[in-house]
Amino acid sequence: MNRKKIVLSGIRPTAGLHLGNILGAVENMVKLQNLDEYECYYFIADYHAATTNPAFSTIRENSLEVLADMISCGLNPEKSVIFRQSDIPELPQLHLIFSYLITVSELERNPVYKEQKQELHLNGNGLSSFLLYPVLQAADICLYKGAFIPVGKDQVPHIEITREIARRANTLCNREIFPLPEALLTEMPKIPGIDGRKMSKSYSNFIALSDSPEETKEKVFQMVTDVKKPRLSDPGHPDECNLYQLMKCYENGNTFVQIKEDCKEGKIGCRKVCKPLLSQVLNEALSEPRKIRNELINDNNGLENVLKKGAEKARNKALETVKEVRTALGFSVRIEDYCQE
Ligand code: TRP
Repeated sequence: MNRKKIVLSGIRPTAGLHLGNILGAVENMVKLQNLDEYECYYFIADYHAATTNPAFSTIRENSLEVLADMISCGLNPEKSVIFRQSDIPELPQLHLIFSYLITVSELERNPVYKEQKQELHLNGNGLSSFLLYPVLQAADICLYKGAFIPVGKDQVPHIEITREIARRANTLCNREIFPLPEALLTEMPKIPGIDGRKMSKSYSNFIALSDSPEETKEKVFQMVTDVKKPRLSDPGHPDECNLYQLMKCYENGNTFVQIKEDCKEGKIGCRKVCKPLLSQVLNEALSEPRKIRNELINDNNGLENVLKKGAEKARNKALETVKEVRTALGFSVRIEDYCQE
């Protein structure tokens, strides 16, 4: 049987998607989906969101919003298995088993954990789910036997931990249940936010799909541009300019070549030419996704239905995997719970 390899990725629903998420992750997920070469599993990582931001009252709403945004950007529930992490009761089962396969000190050595612990000044008050974050991620990936994982560079340590856990699980079970997953790194320039730092929810420097065209324009006009070009007639440095970096993400042929030359020669100004142009380019590019989003966003029943169908497909696979592992390890696999007639 020549089964397609599995591509899998999750998005944390901290709120709706912004250009950084869309250009840096979602567009790549859409591309992989449309290749028709892989079976794609894309999910809303609501358990993971609860770890970094345990504001439980917002989780359901944020998840539905992210789902609407994902679909608006081209992820298609007919082509990919699109689902919500917490809809799958087999996931915590694998998470528990995986927690037997890695030590506390190995998890404490995870560079992502070390960095966040410092950044958030946890001082020993961090949640245990924080430490176990990569174990849950490993379960996410292995539950569906994910082979290729499109993620950003920051997630590579988590994929490494997943490979190690998968290796140990295979050894312990005495069979190759889990493929060792590989990260598919997105070749994407850093997407600058309006203040010039990396576009991120936590810096409040983002342009969201949910922003109106007017808000988008306002944000573009707040953007920090080339500090070495205080006057229109000063020669500019487009390669160091945030606005130009963002504009380049929307290059279509060589639309912006002339802009770059004119900027370098001090013929055009940021406020007069580049900011209006980028606002227009963004609003055009986002116009179709925004239209779809507006139709979906108020239809909670419709969105829940998409999740329900996705969960049914995902659970078939999840159940099979958990049954294999539990059988191999000697845990209960009661016929009525683990076998479908
Ligand atoms: N940790 C990922 C992030 O912060 C989200 C995520 C959770 C994920 N589970 C995953 C990504 C499994 C890929 C595969 O972006």
